[in-house]
Amino acid sequence: MLILGFESSCDETAASVVSWDGGALTSLSDIVASQVDVHRLYGGVVPEIAGRAHIEAISRITYEALAQAGVSLSDITAVAVTSHPGLIGALLVAVNFAKSLAVANRIPLVEVDHMRAHIAASYLTADAPKPPFLAAAFSGGHTSIYEVADYTHFTLIGSTRDDAIGEAFDKIGRLIGIPYPAGAGFDKLARSGFEKATGLSDNFWNAYPRTPAYRDPEMRLPSPAISDDSLDFSFSGLKTAAVNLLHRREQLGAETDPALFAARYTYEAVEGVATKLDAALSRHPDMNLVIAGGVAANSHLRARLTALTEAHGVRLYVPPLSLCGDNGAMVAAQGLYEYLSGARAGASLNARAADE
Ligand code: KG4
Ligand code: ZN
Repeated sequence: MLILGFESSCDETAASVVSWDGGALTSLSDIVASQVDVHRLYGGVVPEIAGRAHIEAISRITYEALAQAGVSLSDITAVAVTSHPGLIGALLVAVNFAKSLAVANRIPLVEVDHMRAHIAASYLTADAPKPPFLAAAFSGGHTSIYEVADYTHFTLIGSTRDDAIGEAFDKIGRLIGIPYPAGAGFDKLARSGFEKATGLSDNFWNAYPRTPAYRDPEMRLPSPAISDDSLDFSFSGLKTAAVNLLHRREQLGAETDPALFAARYTYEAVEGVATKLDAALSRHPDMNLVIAGGVAANSHLRARLTALTEAHGVRLYVPPLSLCGDNGAMVAAQGLYEYLSGARAGASLNARAADE
């Protein structure tokens, strides 16, 4: 069975052919046309530019995805497309393209939720997780914890009440001079900050809170874990406190070491996530944890959640770095399971900016 997947919810146009042999899923091609160089000039995604760039790229990447997989449209069992959530003008491009392709070639069409697709990236690994499991999807627009009962039944059990974790890295990264998208640069800068603060080149996490750099009251930042029984976050509180801290120090003429600041900010963000995932794992004993989305590429988050899941005696599934960001293979992978469940997109399929 071959699934052709399309993705255009934000600033990556992607198409991929994924095959399924009744057991394992294999990506035969995964072509991603990234627009980050264009949006970097503006410090973030400009929706109008994103939509136009998707239109320019989508035909070419479709040809490339089919050619690289060595298949033609007549071999495709189903077409899968991200229909929500995302930027509406961006989503519309792949939705309309996939619909036209499916109608013209009489191929079944399935719609895919972008966050489900991120989680499905882990199915494309040799050691694929099997539901039920807990999933944490951390991207530029979402910070969500799901209980995944089976491949197409998801219950949202925690999420951010305001900003997403990826956005929190991007916005503050910009303030300390890291170009958009700031996640990977933030990760590296924070590493040098942790090394500087602890004098250790590895395993610095547990040592860090005991360092003068961490204990400096001037550098205090709040946790994004909301202090109640929920599994929810607030990243706007952390973000605002960081903006105020940087401005206050600037006004006082106090130098802020960007690496030490990045380490402090990362520590709070990651510990906040770990606090709520610790609670989630305690409430769902024996469930493994799957992490997904662009922020799942963060090396500090990966290390912290490795330790957390070990402490709970469960497994952590982490997609390869190449599948953490937006791509077409993850859409095709989730699309396969939606197809197998009998779901079909009707003629009136539309893009939706919101989650449902
Ligand atoms: O899932 P994704 O590619 O697109 C969305 O659906 O939003 O996520 C993009 C986000 C950006 O905010 C980017 O800065 C962040 O993922 N990101 C990271 C890292 N690599 C990418 N955040 C933290 N650490 C990283 N290493
Ligand atoms: Zn995404």
